[in-house]
Amino acid sequence: MTPNTADIGAILISSRSLDEYRSMFDLSDDDLSRRILDYPAGAAGFTAVVNRLGGDVTACDTAYSDSDAEHLTVVAAAEAERGNRYIRDHAENYDWTFFADPDEHARVRRQAVRDFAEDIRRHPHRYVAGWLPSLPFPDAAFDLVLSSHLLFSYADRLDRTFHLDAIRELMRVARDELRIFPLVESGTSVLCPYLDELLTDLREHGIDGEVVEVDYRFQKGAHHMLVCRRTGFP
Ligand SMILES: C[S@@+](CC[C@H](N)C(=O)[O-])C[C@H]1O[C@@H](n2cnc3c(N)ncnc32)[C@H](O)[C@@H]1O
Repeated sequence: MTPNTADIGAILISSRSLDEYRSMFDLSDDDLSRRILDYPAGAAGFTAVVNRLGGDVTACDTAYSDSDAEHLTVVAAAEAERGNRYIRDHAENYDWTFFADPDEHARVRRQAVRDFAEDIRRHPHRYVAGWLPSLPFPDAAFDLVLSSHLLFSYADRLDRTFHLDAIRELMRVARDELRIFPLVESGTSVLCPYLDELLTDLREHGIDGEVVEVDYRFQKGAHHMLVCRRTGFP
């Protein structure tokens, strides 16, 4: 049976690690020294760990609006277990090379929740509530914007207009570049059905989207990111 996004239920507040971000977005050490926005950051450990290493990352997510750090930590821990149950139930749809098995996946995601929980308590100003398509940041506030597992992943419930508006807004706050991963819907290995039309829409708004293969291998078929840059047109 081909699973679909509906199997996963509500949009997961997931907690990927720095190593996953490096691999999904092909991030170099130089990239990690730039001013970075992670949207939607969920309960990822990326912001916590990069900032601990001397970086300058801001996390933004809708989820930060309605909860304090303690409650978010409880929710994030429960979401890591929900995500891991989904992976175990659909293990044949995943490539077990980045993670050796579902137990390793659980360990990595739980550690990311711990990193997130400690950081949001100690540095709450790094965790900003925000909704697409209108983010609470000035133009070009960041050098690099990273966006994982919302756009395209939930294309069954977020339509092409939402994607166009969302990408234009993420580009507004990006000085140089936006990277989005993956380009397939959650729980499937099928490319977002309106990717080509969206790339045409973006070009009409002066944004060039380049599909780039990356090393990350987990969800089968999900090994490309979209790199968006300004073309200067119109
Ligand atoms: C699957 S998580 C991805 C988190 C992180 N990037 C990662 O890879 O671990 C998706 C996130 O999108 C956020 N989100 C942003 N806009 C949303 C919307 N319109 N509806 C639901 N969730 C939304 C959720 O709060 C959630 O944290």
